[in-house]
Amino acid sequence: MGKNSKPNHFLDLNDFDFQTLRNILDLAIKIKALLKNGERPALLKNKILAMIFEQSSTRTRVSFDVGMRQLAGETIMLSGADMQLSREETLADTAKVMSRYIDAIMIRILSHDDLIELASASSVPVINGLTSRSHPCQVMADIMTYEEHKGSIKGAKITWLGDANNVLLSWVHAAKIFDVTLTICAPEQYGPNQSMLADIAIAGKNVKIIADPSLAINGADLVVTDTWVSMGDKDADERIKILTPFRVDAPLMAKANKDAIFMHCLPAHRGDEVTDEVIDGKQSVVFDEAENRLHVQKAILCYVFGITNI
Ligand code: CP
Ligand code: NVA
Repeated sequence: MGKNSKPNHFLDLNDFDFQTLRNILDLAIKIKALLKNGERPALLKNKILAMIFEQSSTRTRVSFDVGMRQLAGETIMLSGADMQLSREETLADTAKVMSRYIDAIMIRILSHDDLIELASASSVPVINGLTSRSHPCQVMADIMTYEEHKGSIKGAKITWLGDANNVLLSWVHAAKIFDVTLTICAPEQYGPNQSMLADIAIAGKNVKIIADPSLAINGADLVVTDTWVSMGDKDADERIKILTPFRVDAPLMAKANKDAIFMHCLPAHRGDEVTDEVIDGKQSVVFDEAENRLHVQKAILCYVFGITNI
């Protein structure tokens, strides 16, 4: 990277064209195959990733950490609460200081505006590890998982049931880029907000909204749901009451295509958004999906460091 050029951030899928994301997925497939063969190429030797968590995480934390180590890089794990961020040092100043020490930052922070503030001031790449707006690393892992089970995602019919949340927004972005049909089925109260509606309008024919779960799931190749209460949501009781008709249970799942698969980014709230029968059933690929966070994020790390082929 030249002194004045912008770093290769990974903030949202709609910042990218199809080919860039395709290249990242293809690299992830190669890196996964190498690992299964016992090979761990030292692609990220001498690179240090700082990870800042303002919220809880199991998958994102462990998969980025392990991913860096398997590619010979190193990590520093930071909690926002232990940093001067918690004593009102600005994100911009934090980014400028960290840019003098480390090679890239991965952050989980609720406010997307805060993510943008950090990235704008950072001279090293910043990766979005989830904000309340979006979760692009997750949907890259989901696409990789879909293609492993069912071939090219182009033209696939995907149904999202439940809360119109951060993971869904990244699916809205992916729908247009990868040319799939995404059907959103959510109650009005927890349906797409104004900002998501604007991105749905940009997605055009690739995104539909259908209120009735049985109609929305009909013909689906992939059924996706997520928790009804995301980090930062305060109205848990009200959400559970209103979202109950959108639970993915076996009778509803049976209305998707016979060979449809089921995904959930995890953590799941069994008995709320999905029943045990579905998440532990034959159609569920949730643990492959969790595993692929590791492989796809290695490829995302390669992208931000300018490694496009191996
Ligand atoms: N899916 C996901 O991001 O999980 P974690 O919250 O455990 O990181
Ligand atoms: N929508 C969930 C995803 C957790 C990985 C949340 O934001 O809490």
